[in-house]
Amino acid sequence: MSLKLPNKIQNWLSQRLPVETAEQFIDEQTHKPMPEATGFLHTFGSLSLFLFINQVVTGILLMVYYRPTTNTAFESIRFIMTKAHFGWFIRGLHAWGATLMILCVLIHMIRTFFMGAFKKPRELTWVLGVAIFGCTVTFGFTGYLLPWNQLSYWATTVGTEITGAIPFVGPYLRTLLRGGESISGETLARFFVLHVVVLPWALTALIATHLFLMRVQGLATMEKVGEEKHIDEHDAVPFFPHHVLKEGVILCGLLATLITLIVVWPVELGEKANPLVTPEGIKPEWYFLSTYQLLKYFPKTIGLFVSLIPQVLLLIWPFLDRTPERHPKKRPISVTIGVVALLLAIVFGFVGYMSESTITWRGQRYEIDVRGVPHHSETKAAPHSN
Ligand code: HEM
Repeated sequence: MSLKLPNKIQNWLSQRLPVETAEQFIDEQTHKPMPEATGFLHTFGSLSLFLFINQVVTGILLMVYYRPTTNTAFESIRFIMTKAHFGWFIRGLHAWGATLMILCVLIHMIRTFFMGAFKKPRELTWVLGVAIFGCTVTFGFTGYLLPWNQLSYWATTVGTEITGAIPFVGPYLRTLLRGGESISGETLARFFVLHVVVLPWALTALIATHLFLMRVQGLATMEKVGEEKHIDEHDAVPFFPHHVLKEGVILCGLLATLITLIVVWPVELGEKANPLVTPEGIKPEWYFLSTYQLLKYFPKTIGLFVSLIPQVLLLIWPFLDRTPERHPKKRPISVTIGVVALLLAIVFGFVGYMSESTITWRGQRYEIDVRGVPHHSETKAAPHSN
């Protein structure tokens, strides 16, 4: 199956442009053979790409009404939610899309880790992937402030405070990020520029290079490094239509999930930011919860250093795990480290979520402190609150 232009258009174009070369390139790309084991887990890269495109398109639509000043940001989002046609839906696509994008990028990263796809010759694809992940969560962090509500104001205060703990340059970096001593209109302007100009272009360039490398090198098989067999064109799964169709089906599932989330759990706006009133139980978004909780167990600077270790390890992992084996069963140490790191992230995230809240368990009331330790409370049991 090949994609061909209608004859008349092709004749017209080929007298002006190297159409045949372009056709040959498209043909090669669409028929590129994929390893036999290419399956459901190999679709998360494309799902991340789809969600990135969703973020760009819905972000542009939101910018039509969004106004990034302290007097107008909150009001403009309220206008989008209540007056603009389908504004609530577009905002839902953007906010839930961000969560799902981070989730898909994470699953994609976990898949390539456990399948050893980061090994030679794909080390650079992985390193670029880690940079992509960093940009994606920074997108989340900068976007969180834009509605200018109480949660976003105070979560950004806490988040930017952490940078102040970096030795020597910390206080300068914090002032640079905030545009002053505290979160203000200057911060909003800076985060807005990062969110709508710097990060989208940086991420576009990173993703384009990542995809280019992936197409040039092809997908990794499960064979040992250096022992990969040539993929036989007759046995292999062609990219188009086979793999594209599989991705299409999974994409429909993703769209259904996205729409269900928007309708069942509409994105809230809360109260407008008030620098004079600190609300209780300020927590960052779920993807920062484990780091946020980890930081609580150490003095500031040491905590920052400890939380940086997993990120640096992630970046240089292809240069540490140098065994030629890719199959998870043949890499017990690497797989154990991966599983333990994943479990720790989940446990710290959960403790972070539960910390500074009150729960009722078997008729007893417990207050969970900042470090996640439950204390029996003498007060009469009340309905579950978090
Ligand atoms: C927006 C973010 C990203 C997009 C759009 C993206 C896209 C893709 C696509 C389409 C593939 C082809 C296979 C597949 O889908 O599994 C791929 C492969 C790959 N990606 Fe990503 N990716 C992203 C983030 C990441 C991250 C965060 C990492 C790791 C830190 C990563 C590491 C890799 C590696 C090592 C491969 C080669 C896989 C193989 O050969 O089997 N990617 N990427």
